[in-house]
Amino acid sequence: MKKKLLNGVKTLAITCRQFGDTGKGKFVDLFSEWADIIARGLGGDNCGHTSWYNGQELVTHLIPSGIRDDKNGKINLIGSGVVFNPKTAIDELLELAAKGISYDHLLIALNAKLITPADIVMDRIKEAAAGSGKIGSTGKGIGPTYADVPDRQGLIVNDLINSNFFFAKLKRHLENKARVLRNFDQELIKQILDHQSLSSGIYYNPQTIFDTEAIYEQYLIYGRELQPMITDTDDFMRQSLGKKNILLEGAQGDLLSVKHGTYPFVTSSDCTVAGLSEGVGLQKSDIDLSLGIIKGFYMSRVGCGPFPSELGRDESDKWCNGGQGNRQRELELYGQPPLNDPNEFLQGIALRQAGNEYGATTGRPRRVGWLDLPLLRYVLRFNSPDIILTKLDVLNDAEIIRICYQYEYCGPDFWLGNKRIKKGDEINEAIPYAEVLQHCRPLYSEFPGWQRSLAGCHSLEQLPPELKMILQFVVDQTGINPRIISIGADRDETIFV
Ligand code: IMP
Repeated sequence: MKKKLLNGVKTLAITCRQFGDTGKGKFVDLFSEWADIIARGLGGDNCGHTSWYNGQELVTHLIPSGIRDDKNGKINLIGSGVVFNPKTAIDELLELAAKGISYDHLLIALNAKLITPADIVMDRIKEAAAGSGKIGSTGKGIGPTYADVPDRQGLIVNDLINSNFFFAKLKRHLENKARVLRNFDQELIKQILDHQSLSSGIYYNPQTIFDTEAIYEQYLIYGRELQPMITDTDDFMRQSLGKKNILLEGAQGDLLSVKHGTYPFVTSSDCTVAGLSEGVGLQKSDIDLSLGIIKGFYMSRVGCGPFPSELGRDESDKWCNGGQGNRQRELELYGQPPLNDPNEFLQGIALRQAGNEYGATTGRPRRVGWLDLPLLRYVLRFNSPDIILTKLDVLNDAEIIRICYQYEYCGPDFWLGNKRIKKGDEINEAIPYAEVLQHCRPLYSEFPGWQRSLAGCHSLEQLPPELKMILQFVVDQTGINPRIISIGADRDETIFV
């Protein structure tokens, strides 16, 4: 069946049609058998890829998860659209080596954008100063590094290996950042720079904020270690197009795209398939098959921003974003409520536990809610309808499954160009702006759950009728074309439609 799906395909892209964390790792793993090249072109160490190697869990943030197949000669590639933290890269490579995983075929784009300590400080200090307007950034310097490019003060990976040019570029970059940072709390800046992820204070200078010499010396060391992997990956990808099997691995999700997402509560790259293609030096039209992932029949969101179908709404948002909650504390405080709990906040906790919706590294709870069709209709505007549905087994115990088919607008008048959105309006296709979405009340269709295990289902026909009925409803409402249905974490718990 996989063969049928990949018939005639040389370049395959897998991206997420929601807010990220939809279980992409399983499919990268599944298709890396077929692929010669596994490339990522977006984001940086703000994402976490979880995969399995020899029975051990492998979590990488920057290195593509296909690295497990390096031993089989597969090329893993970090493309030019990535924002690259050299410290994270070196730390992850050391970890791979310790686990006995090779990285002999890893390629790093010479023009990937370089994250500097100043970008990380800028990210964290802006979030700290934003108060209730914070985005919930991961604090990895992603936004400032992307912004450096149009701001004409960006550095690239290739700078690390040109010591004669690097110092002047770095000095200018750091001085520009320091000029802005002087307006912020100096004690907090020092504290941020003292953090271990920023090499425990060695980059701090009380007069100039950043110690240019120290950063320069350390970054040159990173450059020397990484140089054998640094190359013109854009050219490599163009040369490989049509000749090699290429798997493009997305990051985050369409609804977090800086171009199309729920702005301003987004990341700073274009997470759509167009952004991904560009981020590896290709074009969207070069992709033969573009598969988008959604969770079957729920969603999650990490960080701040509107989420109309969130279970427990404000209470959930506060708990998940308050910085106090983690998996263990949640369990201690709330136990294990049933998936059918009449209290929506507790039902959300049950769904989070059933779906293991906690951050891969921090254990931070993800906000969860029902599948939202207005948002899905919106992302299908700029995407192919081919869909992978994941994690359907998570809802095995649900008595009732709700699908948000429409919104009722409840906010003040809003002008969308020459069109007025007013209280009581029905909205079928989401308007992605936060000021509208936060006033959208979800309207639900309710379905009986299947209330049994999906183990042993190997075809669409074998799935419970209740599940098929919900799927058909989603298809009729949105026009998606389900290509794969995942009913568990294992490879063989996968149904090719
Ligand atoms: P940033 O990318 O660190 O600037 O964070 C911006 C927003 O994107 C925040 O709400 C993050 O929680 C969210 N975000 C970033 N990376 C991921 C991811 O890999 N999965 C889900 N959300 C993410």
